[in-house]
Amino acid sequence: MAVESPLYLDACAAAPLAEQVIAAMLAAYQGAWANPSSLHGFGFEAADCLERSRQAIAAALGFPASWLTFCSGGTEASHAALLGAASGLPTGRLVISAVEHPAVQAAAHQLQAQGWELAIWPVDGVGRVDLAWLDRLLAPPTRLVSVLWGQSEVGTLQPIETIGAACRRAGVLFHSDAVQVVGHQPLAIEALPVDVLTFTAHKIQGPRGIGALVARPDLALGALIGGGGQEAGRRGGTEAVALAAGFAAAIELAQARLKACGGTDPLEPERDRLLAALEPLAGVTITGCRQRRLPHHLSLVLNSPSGQPLPGRQAVAGLWQRGLAVSSGTACASGRASGSPVLQAMGFPPELAGSGLRLSLGPWLTPEQLRSLPDRVRAALLVVQADLG
Ligand SMILES: Cc1ncc(COP(=O)(O)O)c(C=O)c1O
Repeated sequence: MAVESPLYLDACAAAPLAEQVIAAMLAAYQGAWANPSSLHGFGFEAADCLERSRQAIAAALGFPASWLTFCSGGTEASHAALLGAASGLPTGRLVISAVEHPAVQAAAHQLQAQGWELAIWPVDGVGRVDLAWLDRLLAPPTRLVSVLWGQSEVGTLQPIETIGAACRRAGVLFHSDAVQVVGHQPLAIEALPVDVLTFTAHKIQGPRGIGALVARPDLALGALIGGGGQEAGRRGGTEAVALAAGFAAAIELAQARLKACGGTDPLEPERDRLLAALEPLAGVTITGCRQRRLPHHLSLVLNSPSGQPLPGRQAVAGLWQRGLAVSSGTACASGRASGSPVLQAMGFPPELAGSGLRLSLGPWLTPEQLRSLPDRVRAALLVVQADLG
């Protein structure tokens, strides 16, 4: 019997580097290896490569290149956004959603320690912020709001245009963590009512260790990391030129994929086929919003057919034994023994909140793998349910 090769279904944790990304990085490591601040030809070459990467990303995502600060990833970018924006404001209230990534939560707790009041915006059963709270939450002393655009664990997209427009009216600064959204829908960031947006390269087949902070020029954003004045004084440290080149290649690839598919993610119908195959299974409950969700993302809570919650971490191990790489909760919180705070914020009882599973697809899956995916995942889930139930 032919042994099926393992399938990587964990795009929302990290995506394998695309060949074009490796080629762009190799070229930069070979030709643009110098310090981009150096005042000689080698340095000019590196500076040129860095700026070309900045311009490519900005052009693909619809904003002026001068708005982009490179940093080490989504975690740093969210810290720089929140701590940097707060440094130019009098102490007030910061509002974050109940389903933020731990990176935003950590930055919020730092601000709380500095005297900021922290308010948590409740979400409904599918993980969407409850807009009934909008006016109350934006009233003084609120000065800063952070709501993630695409929830990594349950896939729900937040109504960030509505939230951003309300923040504008209230004179409140708005940050959105767009880590999971970039590359999966066409974006025109300049047109969004968002003051600062953050994302990272490694979810879209770019390198680990580089992310982006996109801030409007009128925003007084204090630097999180000082130093030699790099990135127009917004982020100290010699720039990672080759990573920036890989980041740009990854963004361009993702945009080309969207364009070739009329502005939609080609993985969405594949995800829908998978959903249709899994949803009828006894013991499977799909989590997150149906209509407004990340197009490559499927999440569920797994019970035994008789309704007994099954431990998500053991289900992940069981699926891996059957060649399927998935996750339970976010990769960053996968060491957590207790149930998912995201599922609990959505109203799942603690005994179910440890039973979450996430499957996220990527362009490395071949047409043949995608064709057999629903049957393969369904069969593996049935075995895992039988083993753990
Ligand atoms: C929504 C979201 N925000 C932020 C991050 C952190 O990004 P990075 O790993 O680049 O620091 C992640 C990564 O899991 C994420 O999913």
